[in-house]
Amino acid sequence: MTVVLETEGLTRRFGQVVAAEDLAVQVREGEQVGIVGPNGAGKTTFLNLVTGYIPPERGTIRFMGRDITGLHPRTITRLGIARTFQIPQLYSNLTVLENMLLAWAAREGRMMDPWWPLRRTAWVEPAMDLLARFGLADDADRPTYTLPEGKRKLLDVALALALRPRLLLMDEPTSGVSVREKFPLMDTLMEILLPAGVTVLFVEHDMDVVLRYAQRVLVFQGGRVVADGDPQAVLSEVLAAPSKTK
Ligand SMILES: Nc1ncnc2c1ncn2[C@@H]1O[C@H](COP(=O)(O)OP(=O)(O)O)[C@@H](O)[C@H]1O
Ligand SMILES: [Mg+2]
Repeated sequence: MTVVLETEGLTRRFGQVVAAEDLAVQVREGEQVGIVGPNGAGKTTFLNLVTGYIPPERGTIRFMGRDITGLHPRTITRLGIARTFQIPQLYSNLTVLENMLLAWAAREGRMMDPWWPLRRTAWVEPAMDLLARFGLADDADRPTYTLPEGKRKLLDVALALALRPRLLLMDEPTSGVSVREKFPLMDTLMEILLPAGVTVLFVEHDMDVVLRYAQRVLVFQGGRVVADGDPQAVLSEVLAAPSKTK
């Protein structure tokens, strides 16, 4: 199996806080990997390191065998790693479709292209197709600040997917979404992501979501990976050891 992502010795401190300590993580093509751990365990930091948002002090990050350590986030995105955020990063006064067209422009590297207002006409149809797959076509003309949280989360993933990533990192895709909506939201995401062959790494607090949608789970604690393996086995072990959970 192709190794999509591989980190070695990845370390980052903030003052006295050890946010990432000697992280050695491997993710293989087509895996769905869940990341769990208490607040402050370094889960978001790991995503920030992989996507180039913060530089590591030490260590390397390889994507598809290529060393991407220290590259600019935009370069990393172009190479095929997309991400979503704990709080979706949407342009709240723009409509759903306009947000999507901006993602398209970013993918094509056309943000600075004076012709992009013309090109966007050609992008409307594929952008609408993608929105339809996320059940967002009827919301295309709504400003995103009017969307309920579940739809904001879906749109955030749709925007990431517009970049045609090989690896998608999602930071708490179901946070802020009601318990009743979590499984339908994840069903929608996985039904789109899996056939597209996208490798998925997602941070998640809800263990039921992890058990249902991850093939493998990494447990973070104090900036380290303290367990890695089959979700059922790992989570029952971790839950039996109260010192490792919160
Ligand atoms: N940019 C930053 N500046 C200072 N401290 C940070 C920064 N990012 C994260 N931290 C600290 O690093 C630790 C890990 O944070 P984070 O990765 O956000 O944890 P998690 O996502 O697991 O809740 C926390 O103690 C947090 O306060
Ligand atoms: Mg976090």
